[in-house]
Amino acid sequence: MSYQIAIDGPAGAGKSTIAKETAKQLGFIYVDTGAMYRAMALYLLRRGISAEDSKQISEACREADITIAYKDGLQQVLLNGENVTGLLRTEEVGNMASISSANPDVRKKLVELQQELAEREDVVMDGRDIGTCVLPGADVKIYLTASTACRAKRRYEELTAKGEVCDLAVIEADIAKRDHQDMTREHSPLRQAEDAVWLDSSDLTIQEVMERILALVKTA
Ligand code: DC
Repeated sequence: MSYQIAIDGPAGAGKSTIAKETAKQLGFIYVDTGAMYRAMALYLLRRGISAEDSKQISEACREADITIAYKDGLQQVLLNGENVTGLLRTEEVGNMASISSANPDVRKKLVELQQELAEREDVVMDGRDIGTCVLPGADVKIYLTASTACRAKRRYEELTAKGEVCDLAVIEADIAKRDHQDMTREHSPLRQAEDAVWLDSSDLTIQEVMERILALVKTA
C-alpha cells in the first residue's frame, strides 16, 4: 500500500510550497492537482470554449489527454503530448480553471488519473477535494488555510517580485471570488474533511508549517 498525504485548502494558502517540500523531505512524489485542472482550462481556452458552456466543456474535455511526468523531481504537465507546465500559472488560466473544474465530467477524468498515481507511489497530493473525494483513506490529511488578506498579500509580493504591476485590492477580490466558487460548487466543493487537521498558516513560517506536518506524519 502506498503512503498518502492529502493537503487541501483555498488558493494562496501555501499548499504547493509546503506539499513540494514535504514530498522532497520524505522522498515521495508531489502531485499538484490544481495544475491538472489548469491544463484542462488551458485546453478549453485554446479551443475558444466559453466558461459558461458546460455542455461544450463536457464534450471537449474528452479530447484533452492530460498526463504528468517528472523532471528533476518536479511535476511536468503534458497536454496532448505538449509540456504546458510553464503556461499554467496565469490569472486567466486560474480563473478558467476555477469555473471549468466545477464540471463533473472534467472532475471524473482528472480524479481517476490522480487515484491511479496515488495507488502506484507514495504521494503528497494537494488540491481542493483530496481528503474528501480523491483519497478518502489518506494516512494524513491537512486543511491548510490562511486569512484572505494574508493570502492576497503573499500573492501581491510574489507578482511584484516578478516585476508585474498589480493592485492588492484587485488580487484580494479575486481570491475571495475564487474561494466562493470553489466552496459553493455542487460537485466536490472545497471543505475540510472530518478527519483533516486544520492548519492556519497566516502567522506561521514555511518552516513552522513543515514541522507540524512532519510531526503528524510521524504519529500517523
Ligand atoms: O490550486 P490551483 O489554484 O492551481 O487550482 C486551480 C483551480 O482548480 C481552483 O480554482 C479549483 C480547481 N481545483 C479543483 O477543483 N480541485 C482540485 N483538486 C484542485 C484544483
